[in-house]
Amino acid sequence: MAEPTPDAWRAVDQYFTETLVGHDPALEAAIRDQNAAGLPPIEVAPVNAKFLHLLVRIAGARRVLEIGTLGAFSTIWMARALPPDGHVVTIEAEPRNAEVARANLERAGVGDRVEIRLGRGEDVLPTLAAEEPFDLVFIDADKESNTLYLDWAARLGRPGTVVVVDNVGRGGEVTDAGATRPDVVGTRRGLEMLGTDPRFDATALQTLDRKGWDGVAIAVLT
Ligand code: DHB
Ligand code: MG
Repeated sequence: MAEPTPDAWRAVDQYFTETLVGHDPALEAAIRDQNAAGLPPIEVAPVNAKFLHLLVRIAGARRVLEIGTLGAFSTIWMARALPPDGHVVTIEAEPRNAEVARANLERAGVGDRVEIRLGRGEDVLPTLAAEEPFDLVFIDADKESNTLYLDWAARLGRPGTVVVVDNVGRGGEVTDAGATRPDVVGTRRGLEMLGTDPRFDATALQTLDRKGWDGVAIAVLT
């Protein structure tokens, strides 16, 4: 058996991506334009995007909430998993990101089923409380706010709602109980909430993909 060296796990990620995810011109153009606009290259890896797409389908989700749009790469993948009457609400704090995301969504043909709400999560999330519950929530924004986002996910969902949190491994730093970096502290607090708050039943998986060593948490609302 090969050792899990960086070259070896990158080759596996590439093999999975080529074999199971494939290519799509609108998604590749979205990344190209996102990079050209100077957005950080921190969108989910293609295998992770396909995972989100499949979760939307497995859950039979009709209403999806995303916190952290960036250039809408994950948004497009989730929107494409929805039934014809499905809808994504995606929250983005940076106007420039939202502008790039809007163009990417239109080009991918899902502009009519995605609503970008511009603003910080803590300001936008309370405005969604009057809407129908969400069936799936994807949290992928500033990690220091993960507990706030999880609390809103629980309030805006219903029993059975799927909640996914990106970047819970942070290159192994998540095990550092003495961490002071706000993103690591926020990630740890979010995981502790998923483990102890009775509104969630959760687990997490480590990931090794083109973005390196990280992880994804998945929960269901009880
Ligand atoms: C960062 C944020 C992300 O959502 C991600 O997937 C990777 C990195 C970051 O802020 O560094
Ligand atoms: Mg992320």
